[in-house]
Amino acid sequence: MLYLDPSHRVRHRNIGNIDCKTKAVRVTKKLFIKTYGCQMNVYDSDRMTDVLAPLGYTPTTTAEGADMVILNTCHIREKASEKVFSELGRLRMMKDRARDQQGRDVTIAVAGCVAQAEGEEITRRAPWVDIVVGPQTYHRLPELVSQIDPAARHSVIDTDFPEEVKFDRIPGEHAPRGPTAFLSVQEGCDKFCTFCVVPYTRGAEFSRPVDGVMVEARRLVANGTRELTLLGQNVNAYHGEATDGSSWSLARLILAIAEIDGLDRIRYTTSHPLDMEDDLIAAHRDVPSLMPYLHLPVQAGSDRILAAMNRRHTHDVYLRILDRLRDARSDIAFSGDFIVGFPGETDRDFADTLSLVGRVGYASAYSFKYSPRPGTPAAASQEQVPEDAKADRLEALQQLINAQQLAFNKQTEGRTLDVLVERKGRRDGQMAGRSPYMQAVNLAGNEAMIGSIVPCTITDARQNSVIGAVA
Ligand code: 5AD
Ligand code: SF4
Repeated sequence: MLYLDPSHRVRHRNIGNIDCKTKAVRVTKKLFIKTYGCQMNVYDSDRMTDVLAPLGYTPTTTAEGADMVILNTCHIREKASEKVFSELGRLRMMKDRARDQQGRDVTIAVAGCVAQAEGEEITRRAPWVDIVVGPQTYHRLPELVSQIDPAARHSVIDTDFPEEVKFDRIPGEHAPRGPTAFLSVQEGCDKFCTFCVVPYTRGAEFSRPVDGVMVEARRLVANGTRELTLLGQNVNAYHGEATDGSSWSLARLILAIAEIDGLDRIRYTTSHPLDMEDDLIAAHRDVPSLMPYLHLPVQAGSDRILAAMNRRHTHDVYLRILDRLRDARSDIAFSGDFIVGFPGETDRDFADTLSLVGRVGYASAYSFKYSPRPGTPAAASQEQVPEDAKADRLEALQQLINAQQLAFNKQTEGRTLDVLVERKGRRDGQMAGRSPYMQAVNLAGNEAMIGSIVPCTITDARQNSVIGAVA
């Protein structure tokens, strides 16, 4: 596999625990991180901010004027990775301007899944990049920064899958993040869906030990987090080691996290249908703080395509899992991911996707045109679907999903829902928050409400948001 070829990596040996104190400098430097892709990248970007803080880097909101710019990239579809190269072109000009006009060096780093998969390509196409660092090695950023030689004009690359676990190496103490926070508990994937790069870019499935997760969860709650979203590429495959040596399932972890005083809401994402074990379904019945909204991607509705995707379940098995979840928690709402135009998909196969969506009634869903990813089995298929057919199917599917989303929001009109107020809204005097069903809720209020959960009557529903009035 392209991504697993060790010749694509420069290995760094003898990198032990980085003693951040010895590297600490007094000068404040500005750090700008641009995050692409999934929530795991959002979490990772925050952790990168944490590991760089002892070097004097503080976050800033624009690339212009920053001393270090990190692009935390996504490789899931071609469009996402190509964006990186156009952004790097802009950053080159910025870097040149800073040097020529201010005599200032700007460090440019590429992190995330494009760095992992295309590290060598990045250094070839964009030699002005100083650091290329993969998702499993960003805890080594301070070390990598110290290896930069501005005169050398070549990048420091670290896209190892190291022995040491990054979670043990990133600082425990991090800045308060507000009322909602992500907490990464699982990473990587062993499912090998034939379209997907994740098993290659993020590596094999790994679950963080229970203790580390609990410490981080308690610290976040102590810092004001009221809603925690447990993250993993295949989060419901979680099987973390507890201090007594036993293995905890995601359900068991959720039960323990639910006991933390001051934590009101728990979510988890992203899940694979086959890992919806009985105890996790039961947790939806037994844990009131586990929110009644689940992102459970199915990708397609045709059994033939599901088999070709190596999803290892059928259309009906997926629907039965949703039924069992509804039995456990009658008001649960679902979201999903869909790929249209997977190699070999006929109009008839696509009709099965529409029929599945029709039967589920999603509260929201994401749909994508199939994008062949280098090194994945489906990319080599001779049965690629023409672009115009993909575009037509995407439009039809999105129309159906949009209608379902609007219908879901409409049926909440007149109901009173608990809204966690997260931030200021776009308009003056308006605040923005989320309902238990992840609906974006706009309500009249002030900043003092941030972090509180207020009952709101839904007065008006649109496709992407609803209006609430404090009840
Ligand atoms: N092409 C299109 N969509 C993809 N996804 C993953 N790989 C591809 C691909 N090659 C979608 C899946 C997944 C979501 C995160 O991205 O729907 O659930
Ligand atoms: Fe990719 Fe998800 Fe399939 Fe894993 S389960 S290979 S992350 S789509």
